[in-house]
Amino acid sequence: TNVSRVTLKTLISHYEKPRNVGSLPKNDVDVGTGLVGAPACGDVMKLQIRVDENGIISDVKFKTFGCGSAIASSSYMTERVKGLSLEEAGKIKNTGNCTGTLHCSMLAEDAIRSAIRDYKSKRNNMTNPKQKGF
Ligand code: FES
Ligand code: FES
Repeated sequence: TNVSRVTLKTLISHYEKPRNVGSLPKNDVDVGTGLVGAPACGDVMKLQIRVDENGIISDVKFKTFGCGSAIASSSYMTERVKGLSLEEAGKIKNTGNCTGTLHCSMLAEDAIRSAIRDYKSKRNNMTNPKQKGF
């Protein structure tokens, strides 16, 4: 499956030095934006993907007001989804290994799904028949 064990060392490294923090231009037709909130703690996460003409995720950026765990798992997630197809990326499971009730590490998983949905609905709304059905 797509689930791989994340070591604590890996997560700490992402916490100390988050990768792919930032934004992509939200109005670009090849960019999908996911914005999700964590009901338990009220934190917010924005995650964006850029998709190339082959349906592969070529770039990922995120921003969050979440805690350190949310930052680490999102950063780790951005590295994992780069180079994957939308289908593969949508199957990635919770990247953290915390069993706490706030589900911080679920934010990244929700956000990537939301970004994929946004990208797909953008493509579906496009009127140019050549680009449609991508
Ligand atoms: Fe809110 Fe972790 S406490 S994301
Ligand atoms: Fe937030 Fe575990 S670190 S619930």
